[in-house]
Amino acid sequence: MEASLKNMLYDNPELYEEIYDGAGHEIPRMCAKLFGGIPKTLLDIGCGTGRDVAYFAGQGARCTGVDFQPGMIAYARDRRPGVDFQTGDMRSLRLGTTFEIIPCVGWALANLHTPKDIDRAMATFAAHAAPGTMLFLHLPNAIGDLDGQGLPARFVIDTPSLQATASATYRLDRRRQLLSRERLWSLPGQPDQKDFVRFRLLFPMELEHYLTHHGFTVTGMYDNTEAQDSDLTGPVLYVSARFTGDVSTGATLQV
Ligand SMILES: C[S@@+](CC[C@H](N)C(=O)[O-])C[C@H]1O[C@@H](n2cnc3c(N)ncnc32)[C@H](O)[C@@H]1O
Repeated sequence: MEASLKNMLYDNPELYEEIYDGAGHEIPRMCAKLFGGIPKTLLDIGCGTGRDVAYFAGQGARCTGVDFQPGMIAYARDRRPGVDFQTGDMRSLRLGTTFEIIPCVGWALANLHTPKDIDRAMATFAAHAAPGTMLFLHLPNAIGDLDGQGLPARFVIDTPSLQATASATYRLDRRRQLLSRERLWSLPGQPDQKDFVRFRLLFPMELEHYLTHHGFTVTGMYDNTEAQDSDLTGPVLYVSARFTGDVSTGATLQV
């Protein structure tokens, strides 16, 4: 994750959960539905506060959650017993075991900006996969919303301890395929705070290229949590892929 990233919510994981409340476990439910139910084992890469991985653990899966930020992992360990939480980097993580389902959601992969880093993350997914392992990605949808016009422009925190609002502006670096978001937070009685993040945009065929070269076959790409086929015009992309280990197969879509 780049050093220039500043995120008020990462510094305050409980506020992160206020804003990203998981919408009734919408994403893990989608993942379970796509992959035929609750797996025996699951590795959530870029698990943040552990909200989604705890959903699977609560249904009986043996779960590991890994995140780059020690603060997020400390929060997750404290709140979510029963899950093995570890600090780690998806570019280099090697746990020495494989899992049935590997989600990498909440745009975690989009924090890697270069082809080399994306390749390294794909190698990490493959290193924790056995034939049949399902990978589930959730990313900004470059083909649907290149310049972030469909993304939230306003954020609100309304808790007994804190009321805050933020306005977000998005800027596209076309050459590097990076969408940056700057948020300006207004906090009562405090100076305004800025936070900043850049997301790497990946187009569907580009993503499929990375996946197939690491032994995954794409089984679906969606812009909605109902997993309905569409023309992918929405701002968010959900990708399911199965690990075969065969790196010789080309893209699943014939042209
Ligand atoms: C927006 S949060 C999503 C967290 C969680 N998956 C969710 O959906 O709520 C993105 C997470 O990716 C993590 N992340 C970014 N770069 C990472 C890396 N190289 N390895 C592991 N985690 C990373 C961040 O620390 C952050 O917690």
